[in-house]
Amino acid sequence: MNGPIGTVDKKWRLFRAWTSRHPIWCAWQVTYRCNFRCRFCGYWHDPMGSQDEPPVEQYVIGAKKLAQTGTLMVSLAGGEPLLRDDLPDIIRAVGRYHFPFMTTNGWLITEQSAREIMAAGIWGVSVSIDYASPQTHDERRGMTGAWRQAWRAVELLSAARIHKWQRVNVIAVLLDDNIDEMAPLAQMAAERQSYFMVQPYGFRKTGSHAYEHNDGPVSPRLMALMRQWPNFTSSPVYISQFDQFLRGGIPNCKAGRVFFNIDSTGDIAICVDRRSEPVANLYTDSMWTIRGRLRTASRDNGCMDCWYNCRGEIEGLYSPHGFLMCLRQYIIDAGRPPRRRWLTTRRPIPTGPGGAEG
Ligand SMILES: C[S@@+](CC[C@H](N)C(=O)[O-])C[C@H]1O[C@@H](n2cnc3c(N)ncnc32)[C@H](O)[C@@H]1O
Ligand code: SF4
Ligand code: SF4
Repeated sequence: MNGPIGTVDKKWRLFRAWTSRHPIWCAWQVTYRCNFRCRFCGYWHDPMGSQDEPPVEQYVIGAKKLAQTGTLMVSLAGGEPLLRDDLPDIIRAVGRYHFPFMTTNGWLITEQSAREIMAAGIWGVSVSIDYASPQTHDERRGMTGAWRQAWRAVELLSAARIHKWQRVNVIAVLLDDNIDEMAPLAQMAAERQSYFMVQPYGFRKTGSHAYEHNDGPVSPRLMALMRQWPNFTSSPVYISQFDQFLRGGIPNCKAGRVFFNIDSTGDIAICVDRRSEPVANLYTDSMWTIRGRLRTASRDNGCMDCWYNCRGEIEGLYSPHGFLMCLRQYIIDAGRPPRRRWLTTRRPIPTGPGGAEG
């Protein structure tokens, strides 16, 4: 495999990886540095933030090596991925063989960076926004103006799309106090022709259970919202299990079998929250060693600590019902959500305190 792979071939290789039970999703942390101070995430004070980060040449080598077992959906995250100036080159390197996605707090998105990310061939960008209220979002994210800039990022990214398959999502973390914010967030995303997704808080990033939702069932409310907002694109199979997760957890995690994590150092673990237990290294071990060690580490994994969307959405693909429900999300090139005919206006992003302009 010498040159880049075309989109149709990549889809076929992804499908083959799925049918052969090879991993199909990989989170590749490009940095652990972060410019925010989110209360519900510990990455901004993670000691790994001070480690050397591999240059883009290593991503070229690593992406080609990963392609030996098939095409993957690769989520570039961190930390804040845009703190790396070479992010567009990393996207390009990964996109030669795989489908690159990224998640960002939006702070560093400008007209130019949005254009560069899209031109590099990103498949989807998720911008994290957890509250419809600017003040609360900024306070929880430890950054004044975060909310306003995140929505600006959504708009800039939407405007910079080059290919019809490029998606812009808003992604929220379901916390202890924001279930009522989901409806206005889904609407605001729809008004900007963007998708909306949600994942429940996982305590492993902070060690604290304080931010877990504990105020009654959420799945029926979220399912009702999905019926109302077609841009709310999380899979129903995934959303319907939120309450089970919040009541104690969901067994049979497939981490290490169908998805895995690569650190900013190249270390490989079954998932990001188990990165302190690496099983191999992308640069020093062969692909077959990596696969074998991941499989071994995934055996007897009784962990039920998270229901992140990378886990829930990907595991959903391994049931016939889940697979059919996810087709639209993963296979069809639906870069923009269906428009609501009556949704002709969009509420402007407010300025002022919390909205932070002026
Ligand atoms: C770790 S962040 C990295 C990307 C970027 N810094 C951001 O905030 O979007 C990836 C995603 O995880 C979410 N997240 C952070 N802490 C979380 C937690 N404790 N539980 C669930 N999701 C969390 C973020 O909101 C974001 O959507
Ligand atoms: S959620 Fe993202 S922005 Fe917030 S501290 Fe974690 S990595 Fe940084
Ligand atoms: S449930 Fe699975 S993906 Fe989640 S933290 Fe545990 S091992 Fe990792």
